[in-house]
Amino acid sequence: MTPEPVTPEPMTTEEIVRYVVARAVWAPSVHNTQPWRFTADGGPRVILHADAGRRLAVADPDGREMMISCGAALFTIRLALRSLGYIPETRVLPDPAQPALVAEVSWRERAAADEFERRLSSHVLTRRTHRGAFDPEPLPPDTLAALRTAAAREGAALRIVADDGRRAALAAAVQTAEHQLRQDGERLRELARWTPAPGSARRDGVPATSYPARAERTQPYYPGRDFARGHGWGVPPLSLATSHRAAGVAGLLATTADRPADWVQAGQALQRILLTASACGAAVALHSQPLEVPWLREFLRTQLSDAACPHLVLRIGLVTQVALSVRRDPGDVLFPTGDDRADASPG
Ligand SMILES: Cc1cc2nc3c(=O)[nH]c(=O)nc-3n(C[C@H](O)[C@H](O)[C@H](O)COP(=O)(O)O)c2cc1C
Repeated sequence: MTPEPVTPEPMTTEEIVRYVVARAVWAPSVHNTQPWRFTADGGPRVILHADAGRRLAVADPDGREMMISCGAALFTIRLALRSLGYIPETRVLPDPAQPALVAEVSWRERAAADEFERRLSSHVLTRRTHRGAFDPEPLPPDTLAALRTAAAREGAALRIVADDGRRAALAAAVQTAEHQLRQDGERLRELARWTPAPGSARRDGVPATSYPARAERTQPYYPGRDFARGHGWGVPPLSLATSHRAAGVAGLLATTADRPADWVQAGQALQRILLTASACGAAVALHSQPLEVPWLREFLRTQLSDAACPHLVLRIGLVTQVALSVRRDPGDVLFPTGDDRADASPG
């Protein structure tokens, strides 16, 4: 077979950096905090920093969810480079003295993107987090195998929770966590800071265009976050008819260890899973509520995760998505190396 020709180098280094960052900002992040900054020094490399000023101080004291979010941005940088025909060289947490320096990605060698990389890349801007129920139709064959492989390729595991008893236990953990979080004033105030009112001009946080106005019950029930906080915000249901709606296939994203490097790995795996699902025509709902409550996280680790460290509950299914999200402009997060604004703020 004749190898696919490498496309000619059409872009300058500066254009490549801007292209890569413009795509990376569309990675998912907890409460759409977008806890990242990027720096570039004019050479063929981009540096990803965690912006600790955007960490959820109450919900995420260790910065685990912040690093997962940065990991998702890192995967997107790598994929963007592949889509341009470059081979990314990645160093994760290259300097122990600078824990906010998440990764350095450089590129020199070229090789044309393959068909699958191009497909994944075409979903970066359109993939959306789903919130609510799914259609009852089963996933296309091989979807779950593709998602498990996606996690494994990034050094993480997607553990499908298949039997009814374990699914009920997983849903109960989400319910218990959500109940507990709704009683916690500090948590509610933090959530309020990341849930702008409809019509807000903000380019971060969870907009009212991205969650349903009415919780969709499923069996078992995985409650969503209370983004509307009693204001009645959110997308009205498409139809008032109550058709049979499904919870989807549930699973846990896990890594073998629980250090910052594992969190970054979990984030890269998450974005590969989400884009693979999107490329298979499926949508994914994310629940991190029980992972933010230490005793529930421990319960999930010992009872449903074979002692691997769980990071997120995922539900996967088919649905027509209507959610719209927002992002800050790449120009607001990309700085020349040494620029004061690029210094990670203390967490
Ligand atoms: C670590 C992490 C935890 C998340 N937890 C939740 C969650 O508990 N509930 C939820 O609805 N979305 C959750 N999300 C999804 C984000 O809210 C979502 O990525 C963000 O609002 C941007 O929207 P988009 O993914 O549609 O682009 C999480 C994402 C990450 C990376």
